[in-house]
Amino acid sequence: MTNNNNNDNDNLDKQAIINGLNEDLSREYKAIIQYVVFSSTLKGAEYGNIAEQLEKHASDELNHALKISKQIDYLGGTPTIQVKEVESSKDSKKMLEIDLKSEQETVRNYRDRIRQAERAGEFALSEVLREIIATEQDHEIDLKDALGL
Ligand SMILES: [Fe+2]
Ligand SMILES: [Fe+2]
Repeated sequence: MTNNNNNDNDNLDKQAIINGLNEDLSREYKAIIQYVVFSSTLKGAEYGNIAEQLEKHASDELNHALKISKQIDYLGGTPTIQVKEVESSKDSKKMLEIDLKSEQETVRNYRDRIRQAERAGEFALSEVLREIIATEQDHEIDLKDALGL
């Protein structure tokens, strides 16, 4: 009886993690699209080499999407094909602000996911998430620097 309850709880934890990771994966798809478009359309000498950095971010986000998708599969889930709503602008400063807001939201969500993974004893997953969150924090710094924040 106790064992069954534990198994039920384990399955619920696992399902909640899979659902959360699928949200993260949709957020990574969105980030890829925004960085691909903004890196090629951002204009203005005042933004220096940020366009190049955005191009690098695009490939980091693809790398994250691949890692998250694999983790979902390991846990027995199905990786989503849904993309979170992509934002756009013709204004370079606005593009950077959109990216910064997205990164901050992403970091908040990965923090939650790390806590969730650790509570469920999924330590290999939390390791992967910690590596990813470190890159997201670097992205956040790049964008803040470019915006002079
Ligand atoms: Fe990412
Ligand atoms: Fe990022």
